[in-house]
Amino acid sequence: RKKTIIDTDPGIDDAMAIFLALQSPELDVLGLTTIFGNVYTTLSTRNALHLLEIAGRADIPVAEGSHVTITKGTKLRVADFVHGADGLGNQNFPPPNGKPIDQSAAAFLVEQANLYPGEVTVVALGPLTNIALALQLDPGFPKKIGKIIILGGAFFVNGNVNPAAEANIFGDPEAADMVFTSGADVLVVGLNVTHQVVMTEADRDKLGRSDGKFAKYLCKILDIYFSYHRYAYETKGVYLHDPATVLAAVDPSLFTYTEGVVRVQTTGITRGLTILYNNKKRFGEVSEWCDKPTVKVAVTVDAPAVVKLVMDR
Ligand code: BDR
Ligand code: CA
Repeated sequence: RKKTIIDTDPGIDDAMAIFLALQSPELDVLGLTTIFGNVYTTLSTRNALHLLEIAGRADIPVAEGSHVTITKGTKLRVADFVHGADGLGNQNFPPPNGKPIDQSAAAFLVEQANLYPGEVTVVALGPLTNIALALQLDPGFPKKIGKIIILGGAFFVNGNVNPAAEANIFGDPEAADMVFTSGADVLVVGLNVTHQVVMTEADRDKLGRSDGKFAKYLCKILDIYFSYHRYAYETKGVYLHDPATVLAAVDPSLFTYTEGVVRVQTTGITRGLTILYNNKKRFGEVSEWCDKPTVKVAVTVDAPAVVKLVMDR
Protein backbone atom coordinates (compact mmCIF):
# COMPACT_ATOMS: atom_id res chain seq x y z
CA ARG A 1 0.00 0.00 0.00
CA LYS A 2 1.24 3.49 -0.87
CA LYS A 3 2.24 5.48 2.17
CA THR A 4 0.25 8.71 1.84
CA ILE A 5 0.05 12.04 3.65
CA ILE A 6 -2.89 14.27 2.81
CA ASP A 7 -2.24 18.01 3.12
CA THR A 8 -5.70 19.54 3.31
CA ASP A 9 -8.00 22.50 4.05
CA PRO A 10 -11.30 20.75 4.76
CA GLY A 11 -13.48 21.80 2.89
CA ILE A 12 -16.34 19.73 1.46
CA ASP A 13 -14.43 18.19 -1.46
CA ASP A 14 -11.49 17.68 0.93
CA ALA A 15 -13.84 15.71 3.23
CA MET A 16 -14.84 13.52 0.30
CA ALA A 17 -11.19 13.10 -0.65
CA ILE A 18 -10.16 12.09 2.89
CA PHE A 19 -12.97 9.52 3.15
CA LEU A 20 -12.13 8.24 -0.32
CA ALA A 21 -8.47 7.79 0.67
CA LEU A 22 -9.50 5.91 3.83
CA GLN A 23 -11.74 3.63 1.74
CA SER A 24 -8.98 2.93 -0.77
CA PRO A 25 -7.08 -0.30 -0.06
CA GLU A 26 -4.27 0.94 -2.31
CA LEU A 27 -3.39 3.72 0.17
CA ASP A 28 -2.00 3.69 3.69
CA VAL A 29 -2.79 7.11 5.19
CA LEU A 30 0.13 8.04 7.49
CA GLY A 31 -1.33 11.36 8.56
CA LEU A 32 -3.17 14.53 7.66
CA THR A 33 -1.49 17.91 7.62
CA THR A 34 -3.64 21.01 7.66
CA ILE A 35 -3.52 24.36 5.95
CA PHE A 36 -5.60 27.50 5.48
CA GLY A 37 -7.62 27.72 2.29
CA ASN A 38 -11.31 26.96 2.40
CA VAL A 39 -11.14 27.97 6.09
CA TYR A 40 -8.41 29.30 8.40
CA THR A 41 -5.87 26.75 9.64
CA THR A 42 -7.32 26.38 13.16
CA LEU A 43 -10.67 25.33 11.70
CA SER A 44 -8.95 23.14 9.10
CA THR A 45 -7.28 21.23 11.93
CA ARG A 46 -10.54 20.91 13.84
CA ASN A 47 -12.27 19.60 10.70
CA ALA A 48 -9.48 17.13 9.93
CA LEU A 49 -9.77 15.70 13.47
CA HIS A 50 -13.57 15.62 13.19
CA LEU A 51 -13.50 13.79 9.85
CA LEU A 52 -11.10 11.15 11.18
CA GLU A 53 -13.37 10.64 14.21
CA ILE A 54 -16.41 10.26 11.93
CA ALA A 55 -14.41 7.67 9.99
CA GLY A 56 -13.42 5.80 13.17
CA ARG A 57 -9.77 6.56 12.37
CA ALA A 58 -8.76 8.84 15.25
CA ASP A 59 -5.54 6.80 15.34
CA ILE A 60 -4.28 8.73 12.28
CA PRO A 61 -2.21 11.75 13.36
CA VAL A 62 -3.11 15.30 12.38
CA ALA A 63 -0.26 17.82 12.21
CA GLU A 64 -1.30 21.44 12.15
CA GLY A 65 0.16 23.54 9.36
CA SER A 66 1.03 27.14 8.81
CA HIS A 67 -1.31 29.99 9.69
CA VAL A 68 0.41 32.34 7.25
CA THR A 69 1.73 32.22 3.68
CA ILE A 70 5.39 31.46 2.97
CA THR A 71 6.21 35.18 2.65
CA LYS A 72 3.96 35.85 5.67
CA GLY A 73 2.72 38.83 3.71
CA THR A 74 -0.36 37.64 1.82
CA LYS A 75 -3.83 38.35 3.15
CA LEU A 76 -5.67 35.04 3.40
CA ARG A 77 -8.84 34.47 1.43
CA VAL A 78 -11.22 31.83 2.81
CA ALA A 79 -14.07 30.27 0.81
CA ASP A 80 -16.96 30.22 3.29
CA PHE A 81 -19.32 31.06 0.41
CA VAL A 82 -18.43 27.69 -1.20
CA HIS A 83 -18.00 25.41 1.83
CA GLY A 84 -19.91 27.18 4.64
CA ALA A 85 -18.51 29.20 7.54
CA ASP A 86 -17.46 25.95 9.26
CA GLY A 87 -15.99 24.53 6.04
CA LEU A 88 -18.30 21.53 6.21
CA GLY A 89 -21.65 22.80 4.99
CA ASN A 90 -22.77 24.59 8.20
CA GLN A 91 -23.93 21.41 9.91
CA ASN A 92 -23.05 22.46 13.51
CA PHE A 93 -20.94 19.40 14.19
CA PRO A 94 -19.70 19.10 17.79
CA PRO A 95 -16.00 19.83 18.33
CA PRO A 96 -13.66 16.84 17.97
CA ASN A 97 -12.28 15.06 21.02
CA GLY A 98 -8.78 14.66 19.63
CA LYS A 99 -5.91 17.09 19.35
CA PRO A 100 -3.25 17.63 16.72
CA ILE A 101 0.18 16.13 17.39
CA ASP A 102 2.90 18.23 18.90
CA GLN A 103 4.75 18.72 15.61
CA SER A 104 4.18 21.17 12.76
CA ALA A 105 2.91 19.94 9.39
CA ALA A 106 6.27 20.75 7.77
CA ALA A 107 8.21 18.90 10.49
CA PHE A 108 5.90 15.88 10.12
CA LEU A 109 6.38 15.87 6.33
CA VAL A 110 10.16 16.01 6.71
CA GLU A 111 10.16 13.33 9.41
CA GLN A 112 8.09 10.88 7.34
CA ALA A 113 10.17 11.52 4.19
CA ASN A 114 13.31 10.68 6.19
CA LEU A 115 11.72 7.62 7.79
CA TYR A 116 10.62 6.18 4.43
CA PRO A 117 12.90 7.71 1.78
CA GLY A 118 11.33 7.61 -1.68
CA GLU A 119 8.18 5.90 -0.41
CA VAL A 120 5.83 8.64 0.74
CA THR A 121 3.26 10.29 -1.53
CA VAL A 122 1.95 13.69 -0.47
CA VAL A 123 -1.50 14.49 -1.82
CA ALA A 124 -1.75 18.28 -1.54
CA LEU A 125 -5.33 19.57 -1.59
CA GLY A 126 -4.84 23.14 -0.37
CA PRO A 127 -2.34 26.01 -0.73
CA LEU A 128 1.24 24.68 -0.85
CA THR A 129 2.70 26.54 2.15
CA ASN A 130 3.43 23.45 4.27
CA ILE A 131 5.27 21.73 1.44
CA ALA A 132 7.32 24.86 0.76
CA LEU A 133 8.17 25.03 4.48
CA ALA A 134 9.28 21.39 4.34
CA LEU A 135 11.63 22.35 1.47
CA GLN A 136 13.09 25.13 3.59
CA LEU A 137 13.44 22.86 6.62
CA ASP A 138 15.24 20.12 4.68
CA PRO A 139 16.80 20.93 1.30
CA GLY A 140 16.97 17.15 0.70
CA PHE A 141 13.16 16.90 0.91
CA PRO A 142 12.51 16.87 -2.88
CA LYS A 143 14.70 13.80 -3.30
CA LYS A 144 13.46 12.03 -0.18
CA ILE A 145 9.75 12.49 -0.72
CA GLY A 146 8.40 9.88 -3.13
CA LYS A 147 5.85 11.94 -4.99
CA ILE A 148 3.81 15.12 -4.57
CA ILE A 149 0.37 15.06 -6.21
CA ILE A 150 -1.17 18.52 -6.26
CA LEU A 151 -4.69 19.78 -6.83
CA GLY A 152 -3.82 23.16 -8.19
CA GLY A 153 -3.75 25.49 -11.12
CA ALA A 154 -5.71 25.87 -14.31
CA PHE A 155 -3.80 24.99 -17.46
CA PHE A 156 -5.02 26.79 -20.59
CA VAL A 157 -8.40 27.50 -18.96
CA ASN A 158 -9.71 30.16 -16.56
CA GLY A 159 -9.17 29.93 -12.82
CA ASN A 160 -11.93 29.83 -10.22
CA VAL A 161 -10.87 32.72 -7.95
CA ASN A 162 -10.65 34.96 -10.99
CA PRO A 163 -9.92 34.37 -14.69
CA ALA A 164 -6.21 33.85 -13.94
CA ALA A 165 -5.96 31.90 -10.71
CA GLU A 166 -7.15 28.66 -9.16
CA ALA A 167 -7.86 28.83 -5.41
CA ASN A 168 -5.07 26.65 -3.99
CA ILE A 169 -2.37 28.38 -6.03
CA PHE A 170 -3.87 31.82 -5.37
CA GLY A 171 -3.72 30.99 -1.63
CA ASP A 172 0.10 31.03 -1.71
CA PRO A 173 1.60 31.65 -5.17
CA GLU A 174 5.19 31.99 -3.91
CA ALA A 175 4.96 28.63 -2.13
CA ALA A 176 3.48 27.01 -5.25
CA ASP A 177 6.31 28.29 -7.45
CA MET A 178 8.86 26.87 -4.99
CA VAL A 179 7.21 23.46 -5.03
CA PHE A 180 6.79 23.29 -8.82
CA THR A 181 10.47 24.12 -9.35
CA SER A 182 11.85 22.07 -6.44
CA GLY A 183 12.95 19.05 -8.45
CA ALA A 184 10.60 16.71 -6.56
CA ASP A 185 8.54 14.16 -8.49
CA VAL A 186 5.48 16.40 -8.88
CA LEU A 187 2.19 15.60 -10.57
CA VAL A 188 -0.35 18.41 -10.97
CA VAL A 189 -4.09 18.03 -11.42
CA GLY A 190 -5.69 21.32 -12.45
CA LEU A 191 -9.15 22.70 -13.16
CA ASN A 192 -8.71 21.83 -16.84
CA VAL A 193 -9.32 18.20 -15.83
CA THR A 194 -11.32 18.48 -12.60
CA HIS A 195 -14.01 20.55 -14.33
CA GLN A 196 -14.81 17.39 -16.25
CA VAL A 197 -15.29 15.36 -13.08
CA VAL A 198 -18.85 16.22 -12.09
CA MET A 199 -21.06 14.67 -9.45
CA THR A 200 -24.72 15.17 -10.42
CA GLU A 201 -27.78 15.84 -8.23
CA ALA A 202 -28.86 12.28 -9.05
CA ASP A 203 -25.55 10.96 -7.67
CA ARG A 204 -26.07 13.00 -4.53
CA ASP A 205 -29.62 11.67 -4.08
CA LYS A 206 -28.18 8.17 -4.40
CA LEU A 207 -25.82 8.95 -1.50
CA GLY A 208 -28.82 10.11 0.53
CA ARG A 209 -30.49 6.71 0.02
CA SER A 210 -27.35 4.63 0.49
CA ASP A 211 -26.25 2.83 3.64
CA GLY A 212 -22.61 3.21 2.59
CA LYS A 213 -20.23 4.21 5.37
CA PHE A 214 -19.97 7.92 4.47
CA ALA A 215 -22.90 8.34 2.10
CA LYS A 216 -25.49 10.10 4.28
CA TYR A 217 -22.90 12.34 5.94
CA LEU A 218 -21.58 13.48 2.56
CA CYS A 219 -25.08 13.95 1.17
CA LYS A 220 -25.76 16.46 3.97
CA ILE A 221 -22.58 18.49 3.74
CA LEU A 222 -22.79 18.57 -0.08
CA ASP A 223 -25.93 20.70 0.00
CA ILE A 224 -24.21 24.09 0.16
CA TYR A 225 -21.54 22.93 -2.36
CA PHE A 226 -24.32 22.18 -4.86
CA SER A 227 -25.97 25.57 -4.21
CA TYR A 228 -22.71 27.36 -4.93
CA HIS A 229 -22.13 25.44 -8.17
CA ARG A 230 -25.70 26.12 -9.33
CA TYR A 231 -25.01 29.81 -8.82
CA ALA A 232 -21.46 29.96 -10.17
CA TYR A 233 -21.22 27.52 -13.06
CA GLU A 234 -23.11 26.26 -16.07
CA THR A 235 -22.98 22.71 -14.84
CA LYS A 236 -25.53 20.24 -13.56
CA GLY A 237 -23.50 19.21 -10.55
CA VAL A 238 -20.37 19.82 -8.51
CA TYR A 239 -16.69 19.49 -9.32
CA LEU A 240 -14.82 16.71 -7.54
CA HIS A 241 -11.42 18.45 -7.44
CA ASP A 242 -9.89 16.87 -4.37
CA PRO A 243 -11.36 13.33 -4.73
CA ALA A 244 -10.10 13.18 -8.33
CA THR A 245 -6.62 14.07 -7.05
CA VAL A 246 -6.65 11.26 -4.48
CA LEU A 247 -7.50 8.90 -7.32
CA ALA A 248 -4.40 10.07 -9.19
CA ALA A 249 -2.51 8.48 -6.28
CA VAL A 250 -4.67 5.35 -6.34
CA ASP A 251 -4.48 4.80 -10.09
CA PRO A 252 -2.42 7.26 -12.17
CA SER A 253 -3.73 5.64 -15.37
CA LEU A 254 -7.11 7.37 -14.85
CA PHE A 255 -5.36 10.45 -16.31
CA THR A 256 -3.02 11.22 -19.17
CA TYR A 257 -0.18 13.68 -18.68
CA THR A 258 2.16 16.07 -20.37
CA GLU A 259 5.54 17.06 -18.94
CA GLY A 260 7.02 20.53 -18.74
CA VAL A 261 8.10 23.41 -16.57
CA VAL A 262 5.36 25.07 -14.51
CA ARG A 263 5.86 28.55 -13.09
CA VAL A 264 3.49 30.69 -11.06
CA GLN A 265 2.87 34.39 -11.63
CA THR A 266 3.27 36.24 -8.33
CA THR A 267 2.40 39.84 -9.22
CA GLY A 268 -0.37 41.97 -10.66
CA ILE A 269 -3.86 40.96 -11.68
CA THR A 270 -2.59 37.57 -12.89
CA ARG A 271 -1.14 36.67 -9.46
CA GLY A 272 -1.64 32.92 -9.01
CA LEU A 273 -1.68 32.11 -12.73
CA THR A 274 0.02 28.78 -13.54
CA ILE A 275 1.97 28.68 -16.78
CA LEU A 276 3.06 25.39 -18.33
CA TYR A 277 5.80 25.26 -20.96
CA ASN A 278 6.07 21.84 -22.61
CA ASN A 279 7.40 22.50 -26.10
CA LYS A 280 10.33 20.07 -25.98
CA LYS A 281 11.55 21.15 -29.44
CA ARG A 282 12.26 24.68 -28.25
CA PHE A 283 13.30 23.86 -24.72
CA GLY A 284 16.92 25.05 -24.91
CA GLU A 285 15.95 28.37 -26.50
CA VAL A 286 14.15 29.86 -23.54
CA SER A 287 16.52 29.23 -20.71
CA GLU A 288 14.86 31.36 -18.01
CA TRP A 289 11.99 28.88 -18.30
CA CYS A 290 13.76 25.67 -19.19
CA ASP A 291 16.55 25.64 -16.61
CA LYS A 292 13.95 24.49 -14.09
CA PRO A 293 12.99 20.89 -13.32
CA THR A 294 9.89 19.61 -15.10
CA VAL A 295 6.67 18.30 -13.56
CA LYS A 296 3.83 16.16 -14.88
CA VAL A 297 0.54 17.90 -15.61
CA ALA A 298 -2.72 16.02 -16.13
CA VAL A 299 -4.33 16.78 -19.50
CA THR A 300 -7.16 14.26 -19.79
CA VAL A 301 -9.18 12.27 -17.28
CA ASP A 302 -11.44 9.25 -17.49
CA ALA A 303 -14.20 11.21 -15.75
CA PRO A 304 -16.88 8.46 -15.68
CA ALA A 305 -14.38 6.07 -14.08
CA VAL A 306 -13.39 8.68 -11.47
CA VAL A 307 -16.99 9.49 -10.54
CA LYS A 308 -17.83 5.79 -10.35
CA LEU A 309 -14.93 5.11 -7.97
CA VAL A 310 -15.95 8.04 -5.76
CA MET A 311 -19.53 6.76 -5.62
CA ASP A 312 -18.58 3.12 -5.08
CA ARG A 313 -16.09 3.86 -2.32
C1 BDR B 1 -9.64 23.74 -4.67
O1 BDR B 1 -9.91 24.84 -3.81
C2 BDR B 1 -10.72 24.42 -2.73
O2 BDR B 1 -11.88 25.17 -2.68
C3 BDR B 1 -11.11 23.00 -2.99
O3 BDR B 1 -11.15 22.27 -1.78
C4 BDR B 1 -10.05 22.50 -3.93
O4 BDR B 1 -8.94 21.99 -3.23
C5 BDR B 1 -10.34 23.97 -5.97
O5 BDR B 1 -9.87 25.13 -6.59
CA1 CA C 1 -9.05 21.55 -0.85
